[in-house]
Amino acid sequence: MDMENLEKELKKAFYWFHSHPELAYEEYETTKKIKEFLTNHGVEVLPYELKTGLVAVVRGEKEGAVQAIRCDIDALPVDEKTDLYYRSGVAGKMHACGHDMHITAGIGCAVLLQENKADLKGTIKIIFQPAEETSLGALKILETDVMEDVECVWGIHADPTNEVGTVAIREGYVAAAVDRFEITVKGIGCHGAHPDDGIDPIPVAAAIIQALQSIVSRNVNAFHPSLLSVTRVHAGTTWNVIPSEAVMEGTVRTMEPADRILYEKRLRQIAEKTAQAYGAEAEVEWIAGSPAVYNHKDMAALCLQKAKELGLSTAVEESSLGGDDFAFYEEKIPGCYVKIGTGVGFPIHHPKFMVDPEVLLPAARFLAELVIKK
Ligand code: NI
Repeated sequence: MDMENLEKELKKAFYWFHSHPELAYEEYETTKKIKEFLTNHGVEVLPYELKTGLVAVVRGEKEGAVQAIRCDIDALPVDEKTDLYYRSGVAGKMHACGHDMHITAGIGCAVLLQENKADLKGTIKIIFQPAEETSLGALKILETDVMEDVECVWGIHADPTNEVGTVAIREGYVAAAVDRFEITVKGIGCHGAHPDDGIDPIPVAAAIIQALQSIVSRNVNAFHPSLLSVTRVHAGTTWNVIPSEAVMEGTVRTMEPADRILYEKRLRQIAEKTAQAYGAEAEVEWIAGSPAVYNHKDMAALCLQKAKELGLSTAVEESSLGGDDFAFYEEKIPGCYVKIGTGVGFPIHHPKFMVDPEVLLPAARFLAELVIKK
């Protein structure tokens, strides 16, 4: 197929994906559409029994490694506010993170590889992964044996801070480990006018919230990016009753694995010992999420080289304390997560976020070049 026709088909598919957003674990129609596109172009789909998502494979005619490309496919519960003619057709749901672009680049890459099997060294698995926005969709894929023979994994993400087709890349940590915590302060409830009859958990919670910020300022190496946010506080039911409990919830973001351990340890100490100092008790629940995303040095260098060969501009990838469950694959094998400029505009997750469709073909070609090893 010539590039012009491929581009037309990719744009048409992209408009469909964009106007049919489906949330995490509900990507049924999306999966069907991906499968249909791939099958129509002679690309093999592996027979995994995934509820949503799928894995395509292209087997090269030359010897080489097995590599994987991860494209996430889910949308967000955002009400789209663009005036695109192909805007979301579902109220309250939108491809506001560009995963529709990831899908389209992935199917485009599959077609290009399929057509160039004679030049392809090794096998490429293209993973269309569900539920990235839950931070746990990668685990669904990892429950299968699809990654067992894979030697390295590539991921892409739409980047509205750069012009169309700009490849932003850097070696090292580029996205954070995402952990969650819940702290329950247990006091003794009593009359609002007689705090001496109980143990008020609210000042204890306030003291804990203040003290938690000392982890980043006093415990973590100042050159290591990290943060802790308390995002929900709940206590009490009315104005004249001191409640027996206060609950706080929040998130910790770190880049270095050692900092992740340090945060959990200090958070437990601060919560438990502060509560103790006030005569209360604190229970801490730490819910570990995805680890930090790390770009392998050689893979990042290859991204830069291929981008230049294809005449794409390049930029230094910005770090973010956001996360991506792509990191779960990297617990097993080296990976690289590259950002592709989709036109400067509103940030991801914004109701006016937009991907310029001109990026689709360059993104597909870039992915194919990354893995073909000519
Ligand atoms: Ni995303």
